[in-house]
Amino acid sequence: MFHLGWFLGNGYGIQPWNGTYAGTSMTDWTKPAIYRDLTTSLERGGYDFLFIEDTSMIEDTYGGSAESTLAYGRMAPKNDPMPLVPLLTAATKHIGVISTVSTTQYPPFLAARQAVTLDHLTEGRFGANVVTSVTHRVGQNFGYDKLPPHDERYERAEEWLDVVSKLWESWDEDALVHDQITPRYADHTKVHTIDHHGKYFDVRGPLNTIPGPQRRPVVAQAGNSIPGRELAAKHADTMLAMGQNPDQMKAFRDDMRQRMIAHGRNPDDLKVMFLVTPMLGETDAHAQQREAERVAYAATDEALRDKLWSLSYVSGGEVDYAQFDLDGPMPTNIVGNGEQSSMKQYTQGNEGKTLREVLLERRQINDLGLIGSPDTVAAKMGEIMDHVGGDGFLLYPEMTRRTIAEFTDGLSSALRKRGLIRDGYDHPTLRENLRSF
Ligand SMILES: Cc1cc2nc3c(=O)[nH]c(=O)nc-3n(C[C@H](O)[C@H](O)[C@H](O)COP(=O)(O)O)c2cc1C
Repeated sequence: MFHLGWFLGNGYGIQPWNGTYAGTSMTDWTKPAIYRDLTTSLERGGYDFLFIEDTSMIEDTYGGSAESTLAYGRMAPKNDPMPLVPLLTAATKHIGVISTVSTTQYPPFLAARQAVTLDHLTEGRFGANVVTSVTHRVGQNFGYDKLPPHDERYERAEEWLDVVSKLWESWDEDALVHDQITPRYADHTKVHTIDHHGKYFDVRGPLNTIPGPQRRPVVAQAGNSIPGRELAAKHADTMLAMGQNPDQMKAFRDDMRQRMIAHGRNPDDLKVMFLVTPMLGETDAHAQQREAERVAYAATDEALRDKLWSLSYVSGGEVDYAQFDLDGPMPTNIVGNGEQSSMKQYTQGNEGKTLREVLLERRQINDLGLIGSPDTVAAKMGEIMDHVGGDGFLLYPEMTRRTIAEFTDGLSSALRKRGLIRDGYDHPTLRENLRSF
């Protein structure tokens, strides 16, 4: 068996709003209804969690203006996902909700307290996806001239997670006395200051609330660069990983398991979830036809502009890809200050190709050949996981009510028939369910 998650890649932001199945998303993306539909369907489909992306900026790197961003609704507008979380768990009983928190945006005390509050409100089904943010435009909304350099951001994130972890442990397990007669609510000798004085943070503690059902809320991590992997190996319960092919996926997971052992952790306590965008159809032929339509669309000017916009973003807002000739050489020497692992997907091994060729060949998130009817795709997912060694997939479809039905009622049923995914939830909390196999 393997785990399933759903990556809500544009967060609590504008969802596909002008296609055939967009429905009322153009105006209703701000309302809770579609996210509730999504989460209840995911629970029916045996997913471990919904994973909500978040960013805080209106990008203007591509073309040097926000025109393209706002004309298409690219990563903006976007609401804060945290208040949405308890609405989703109130509509469900078992599924977890992981939402993104940036170490650049949140002081550690505020984040630790917010996560524990959400752990209480979700009755132990909350997870925090700890990221370092990607572009300068985010940094500039939080007091920086520019987003700090990539590796320094991770150094700061390490200390940030150390502080947050200490705050989560600042109440001993037996600190609550709950004696109404004496009366004594809590034992002050079992609630400790943390007195943290580090390079980036000074925090006295203790946390001013009691531990939630999970004590330590689930921690997720999304970066795949070496410092990102280290952060995950030290602190995370689950991480997003980008899969290119089964061999690379196996190597990535093996690498993470080694890093976990090096940090004295049980490698089974980190679930490596590979992002994937399968193409489903009523039949294999129907899926192939839909894939052909996707490939044809990907070659249009509009789709290519979208990819150039994305590259400008993942470069950390350092490079405006509108400046390059699509039929000129692919600039392969750009590392950027944003998502370095995403950048590599486009730069590595592409010397001598044109920019257009690379944009047509490479996708940040792969389909891993998962194209077909739900049954065909379910069988291939099983084969890939057997090769990789385990953990699971983080499915990343565009979010419409059509894709929700395809991936929960269609794909989940096919996976379940093969015994590949859970047929119910054994435990009340997200971490326990993640660790149950
Ligand atoms: C698939 C994926 C999802 C990510 N989601 C977010 C996000 O929701 N918000 C955010 O600010 N950064 C996000 N990031 C950025 C990373 O988590 C990370 O903090 C940083 O950009 C560096 O990434 P790197 O380790 O790949 O270089 C994401 C990165 C990847 C690859």
